[in-house]
Amino acid sequence: MSRKILVTSALPYANGSIHLGHLVEYIQTDIWVRFQKMQGNTVHYVCADDTHGTPIMLRAEKEGITPEALIAKVHTEHFADFSEFLVEFDNYYSTNSPENKALASGIYKALKANGKIATKTIEQFYDPVKNMFLPDRFIKGECPKCHAKDQYGDSCEVCGATYNPTELINPFSAVSGAAPVRKETEHYFFKLSECSHFLRGWTRSGTLQQEAANKMNEWIGEAGENKLSDWDISRDAPYFGFEIPDAPDKYFYVWLDAPIGYMASFKNLCAKNGLDFDEYWKADSTTELYHFIGKDILYFHALFWPATLEYSGYRKPTQVFSHGFLTVNGEKMSKSRGTFITARSYLDHIKNPEYLRYYYAAKLNGSMEDIDLNLEDFVARVNSDLVGKYINIASRTAGFINKRFAGKLVSAKSHVVVETIKASAPEIAKAYEARDYSRALREIMRLADLANADVAEAAPWVVAKQEGDAAQAKLNADCSSALEMFRLLTLYLKPALPDLAGNIEQFLNIAPLTWASVNDSFADGHAINEYNHLITRIDPKHIEAMTEANKETLQQSVAPTAQPAPAVSENAGDYISIDDFTKVDLRIAKIVNAEHVEGAEKLLCLSLDIGEEKPRQVFAGIKSAYDPVTLVGRLTVMVANLAPRKMKFGMSEGMVLAASDERGGPFILSPDVGAEAGMRVK
Ligand code: 2FM
Ligand code: ZN
Repeated sequence: MSRKILVTSALPYANGSIHLGHLVEYIQTDIWVRFQKMQGNTVHYVCADDTHGTPIMLRAEKEGITPEALIAKVHTEHFADFSEFLVEFDNYYSTNSPENKALASGIYKALKANGKIATKTIEQFYDPVKNMFLPDRFIKGECPKCHAKDQYGDSCEVCGATYNPTELINPFSAVSGAAPVRKETEHYFFKLSECSHFLRGWTRSGTLQQEAANKMNEWIGEAGENKLSDWDISRDAPYFGFEIPDAPDKYFYVWLDAPIGYMASFKNLCAKNGLDFDEYWKADSTTELYHFIGKDILYFHALFWPATLEYSGYRKPTQVFSHGFLTVNGEKMSKSRGTFITARSYLDHIKNPEYLRYYYAAKLNGSMEDIDLNLEDFVARVNSDLVGKYINIASRTAGFINKRFAGKLVSAKSHVVVETIKASAPEIAKAYEARDYSRALREIMRLADLANADVAEAAPWVVAKQEGDAAQAKLNADCSSALEMFRLLTLYLKPALPDLAGNIEQFLNIAPLTWASVNDSFADGHAINEYNHLITRIDPKHIEAMTEANKETLQQSVAPTAQPAPAVSENAGDYISIDDFTKVDLRIAKIVNAEHVEGAEKLLCLSLDIGEEKPRQVFAGIKSAYDPVTLVGRLTVMVANLAPRKMKFGMSEGMVLAASDERGGPFILSPDVGAEAGMRVK
């Protein structure tokens, strides 16, 4: 019987670009949704931009536009990125919608009627210049433990300590730079502390992966212990969000209305497509609801969200599927290494989104482990699996069918490899269902190996040179069987490679493949279309160009960031974080050569040894102060990770540091005795 399934991916914040880290989730979900649709199930895949909260409000202010204008602009960008990665939502909406406002208010009123809302007066930091309460992330100061300067209000990035913003030494507002004052305010709370019993049952009932359920057990505690605190769901004006009913100047905290955004997006889809909202959301719904999320937001989806639904009279999720984070080349994505890659930049350089879809699928196994995008392995894997194994089956056989047999196939019924490939359908389906795509693809590639071995044994390129009807018939049959195998492999790969599968359906002249098409086979005389090149190998040069383009230079690092990050006003510009500072790779450099540059008034050309294979060439504006011969052999300090710059006289591969002002200069720096070329300055 066909299942009715509602699927969501986490709603991305509307103040940053989609990057390759985000795409792990959307690609994972999209593959699952496409697989379910191929199975004949009724599936609705909804998402939206997560548009509320202080960072978005401040970002819009900084850009000199309204929050509404900012979220509209980002919505267009996000939607384009997802579409080009073939992530096919049935609805991509916004949390700043009338449906979401009505649903959030309704849920709040129901919680209140059920006695689950309380108010409490709390003391919070307040920015007296900006006249606003400050979220923890917008308060900075000295870490109370290690005394590192410029740390956020909730945790120290240097020593890892967590604390309350009130513990910071010399706190200041990251918005205005002013010293915050403590001020009392009334907040609204959802009484999560009363939900332990319900949550203990819900989190242990198969709704979560084992690892996630264990984590929840720790947070909820055993019966008798009450570890859960009430959840603060209100924020004071000014705030970009929905006003709480009957509570002037109080707004719902963004995390209250964000997951309700799943419902709102679906409600909007219902209005467009005549679907029954209640069938999917009423408390006793028999439909299925799945949330795909990153492990960092498990707390919201496995505690706050089911409790909110339970006490406002709605159904709870059937399952929450958490995944791990993305690393690139084994490390956290990094702007300085050029591995913080936006979706747009990937599309600009690599172009084909299906390479990434394939690679992620090959790595995803349904667990919460992190997955690594190793860029070298990415090239090797795509080139060998997709081009070398899979497409190879058609590229070695289709030409004979087109040229020798007017495109006509003969039936490949009861061919032993074809039958073997068909027999794997249930196993592959099981792996997709369990989100163990890596297992599915391993099996599919094993089958592709069998198909290639069969083609190699049949050697159509040899048979094609033989004369006589028997050889012709064999050639036709062998190539037809190969294309039958290719059709089946295409079907199995279709959830991950939907566009390629579409092109192949066109080439094979067949209706869109569904899982039931496993049982079909080409009829005698079925005519295929002309074979055109289907995909090309990835050129590693494009990878290099992409990472190079994503390397953030010093200048770029003060431009708006792609990550949801607190906006910092001009007044706070006197400070940078330790992270900003450590982005600059300062090195002791030995000047091994220094020369005048012909035609340059101010520049000297320096060769700087920083312990690399060959010295760096750097053009420095120090001609007015130094005779080049006096520089050779000296040690100085250079910025080693500044993006190389093409100048009129050649490439400049870094920058030397020099002091100057109206009193004189430039004076280049010299390290103390003992420093050696290549040492890091920090
Ligand atoms: O962590 C995030 O990026 C949030 N914007 C996810 C929200 S998911 C849902 F609950 F809305
Ligand atoms: Zn610290």
